[in-house]
Amino acid sequence: MEYADSGFINVFSLQSNNMPAPFGLKEVREAYMRISGCVHRTPVLKSQNLDSLAGRQLYFKAENLQKTGSFKARGACNAVLLEKEKRPNSPGVVTHSSGNHGQAVAYAARCAGLPCSVVVPKGTPQVKCDAIRDYGAELVFCEASPASRNETCAEISSKTGRAVIHPFDNFDVMAGQGTIALELLEEVPDLDAVLVPISGGGMTSGIAVATKGMQPNCKVYPVEPYGKLLQRCLQSKQRMWPNPPQFIDTIADAIRTQQMVVEAASGAAIYAAVKSIEEVDAAPEKVGVILCGGNVDLDHLPWFSRKTSY
Ligand SMILES: Cc1ncc(COP(=O)(O)O)c(C=O)c1O
Repeated sequence: MEYADSGFINVFSLQSNNMPAPFGLKEVREAYMRISGCVHRTPVLKSQNLDSLAGRQLYFKAENLQKTGSFKARGACNAVLLEKEKRPNSPGVVTHSSGNHGQAVAYAARCAGLPCSVVVPKGTPQVKCDAIRDYGAELVFCEASPASRNETCAEISSKTGRAVIHPFDNFDVMAGQGTIALELLEEVPDLDAVLVPISGGGMTSGIAVATKGMQPNCKVYPVEPYGKLLQRCLQSKQRMWPNPPQFIDTIADAIRTQQMVVEAASGAAIYAAVKSIEEVDAAPEKVGVILCGGNVDLDHLPWFSRKTSY
């Protein structure tokens, strides 16, 4: 496994374990049809300046312009619309997320006409809480640890029967995120590589499955913030982060768990495209870069702090 560590981001290669994937290009194509009325087909942008800085052609998939401000709308819409298809009398959905996934599930539930609860940690910025409420979801506050989020979510689900829509550990969510690659490769079929900011891995899984189904020679490289140990865990096949998991200290908050403008998470992929991809891939000429989101929390920019939270 190749690995480039720049001091604040890591970019690494994925290796197949030759196991059949639990979903494939077929499910990604079905997801595309299912969600097309609810999400944007986002543009693929070019920048001559960045091309010349990088010495290669870069193709930016602008998911910062996606509904709800991030790619998360794709996976959430696929999973929530499928829940409605499978259980027409579904009592609704529940999830935990203080960020993009919470807004995306609230939006998806509104599209599907289903009730929705979103569990957020106390101290979540007001702007994020307002966005979730504005989509019509109920907010439920929990403690700030990942364990408290999971427990509160599970409790609501067992009391109400609402389906849990996990941010990444859900094949329908992954298939929905895979539609990013479907659109990107339809527009630029001869890409050599795609750079994907990773946290839980839902977006990377979907993009890897769709890419390998459409263009087996195109490589998919996850990009993680410095301090996250995913590449080393995959290499050693061992969990290397504490149990229960904790958050790492990075401005790329969307991809900080162990477990914008463009967001800092998108910036990580741009940096990898311009600076560090050569350390894992000798000469990719055409590289897709996923600009995963645009939801910048102005209250928490390191150079501008104006805190308001619930
Ligand atoms: C903007 C943004 N980029 C990247 C990611 C990482 O996605 P995943 O958890 O599917 O790896 C997230 C996840 O929250 C996100 O919000």
